[in-house]
Amino acid sequence: MFSANDCITNSWFLSITTAVIIFCNLCYAFEENNGSFPEGFFFGASTSAYQIEGAWNIDGKGENIWDHFIHENPMRIVNNDNADVACDSYHKYKEDVFLAASLGFSAYRISISWTRILPSGYMGIVNEVGLKYYEDLIDEIVKYNMKAVVTLYHFDLPQQLQKDFGGWTNPKLIDIFVDYSRIVIERLEKVDYWITLNEPKVICNYGYGSGEIAPGLKYQEFECAKVVIMSHAAVYRMYKNEFPNRKAKMAINLDCEWFEPKTTSSKDIAAAQRILEFEIGIFAHPIFKGGWPKAVKERMEKRRLMENSAISQLPKLTEKEIEFINGTFDFLGVNHYVTQYAEDDSENNVGRKRNEINAGVLVTVDPPWNKNSLGSTVAMWGARNVFKWLKETYNNPEIFICEYGYSDNGTTLEDNERIRFSRMYLSAFHDAIYKDEVRIFGAMTWSLLDNFEWTSGYSSHFGLFTSIKMILTKRGFRRSQHSFSRS
Ligand code: GAL
Repeated sequence: MFSANDCITNSWFLSITTAVIIFCNLCYAFEENNGSFPEGFFFGASTSAYQIEGAWNIDGKGENIWDHFIHENPMRIVNNDNADVACDSYHKYKEDVFLAASLGFSAYRISISWTRILPSGYMGIVNEVGLKYYEDLIDEIVKYNMKAVVTLYHFDLPQQLQKDFGGWTNPKLIDIFVDYSRIVIERLEKVDYWITLNEPKVICNYGYGSGEIAPGLKYQEFECAKVVIMSHAAVYRMYKNEFPNRKAKMAINLDCEWFEPKTTSSKDIAAAQRILEFEIGIFAHPIFKGGWPKAVKERMEKRRLMENSAISQLPKLTEKEIEFINGTFDFLGVNHYVTQYAEDDSENNVGRKRNEINAGVLVTVDPPWNKNSLGSTVAMWGARNVFKWLKETYNNPEIFICEYGYSDNGTTLEDNERIRFSRMYLSAFHDAIYKDEVRIFGAMTWSLLDNFEWTSGYSSHFGLFTSIKMILTKRGFRRSQHSFSRS
């Protein structure tokens, strides 16, 4: 899929053919371009511990909420798949890193499995084998001159912390997360970029709001949002205070979908802005500007009145807390996959997805839009727009794109669609950099390997590489020349 030469020279020459995609409704045009990226721009691939490592109970690792969720409810995952073995990266990490390096990548993103380090989640028993595993993995990344991008938390909370405290809805988690992070940061000196938490929106909205993913709880997404954002800030401040000589930068990583107003009516324009504030702003605003976004506060007050409730679901942030969170960034990590329409639906308080009800917005898509195998709609003008919005809303922060990518269902041997989508995404990022002057300094694709895609199991394939085990057990054939196989 990638020619090593492209990456090594850091010049990503895109298709000479110009593809103009016209979307019916509002006639957006997107033109693929063939520009090169700035000198020193990082290209890379992203992974996460739970999705690739396997070895779920090996060498002292404790149980986490995903182990628990899947083992207790196997039917909630497509084909009853589990991640007990996954890509077996715990044993094959050298091969993974070699594969990334062989593409000429200059950055590789991993995450730390908390229960490999602290099996119960708490301080107490520190598992040396776990620390050594990540130390060796990072040595391997650095050996190939790639930047090590390391996420401290990518969805896999220790089950003990869920059981004892209720997980991310309990403020006690803030200090516990700091204790865990301190141990990891102290030991892993060669990391170049730290990500505190991956996609707090997914953690809170789906893990503690709609209950679709582990730990499968409902109606507590706003308590979760506060604890998660305070935890991020506490780790950032601990890092800056206790490791003043470290050069590695630190940030949170937000899942940034684009929402386009469905019509040009002022209500739909406000609806699009509102859902952006609910999905991105609720985490970005406290860090980059201070406090909850105004649109979220207003809407939640309206919901309180509609529900005739004495207290709002949105917890208060005190002045001290606002100050504590504000400014806790060295850059902004962004994952971008999806574009959708937003339509005002603010009088409705029932019936649809929780995040839509919370925001008072009806989310739709256009049938002709491209979809990946998870059903997510991809529109490249949306990819450009979201970066412009981030730049304008948060005072032009430096941005590291930590995930973008395209999934298929593994029915074809060819990676033509992934190549087509990668070109379009990269064109959109290029436009954002050169036409909109967004300060993007790197882009890592999701993912290096076909891996365990949470509730979709192994049915959706995002990988640049696939694993023989998955091919044999899931598809019965090998991929051909465009992709790569690992043994
Ligand atoms: C992101 C998540 C990744 C991966 C990706 C593809 O939300 O951070 O772990 O699953 O989606 O669906």
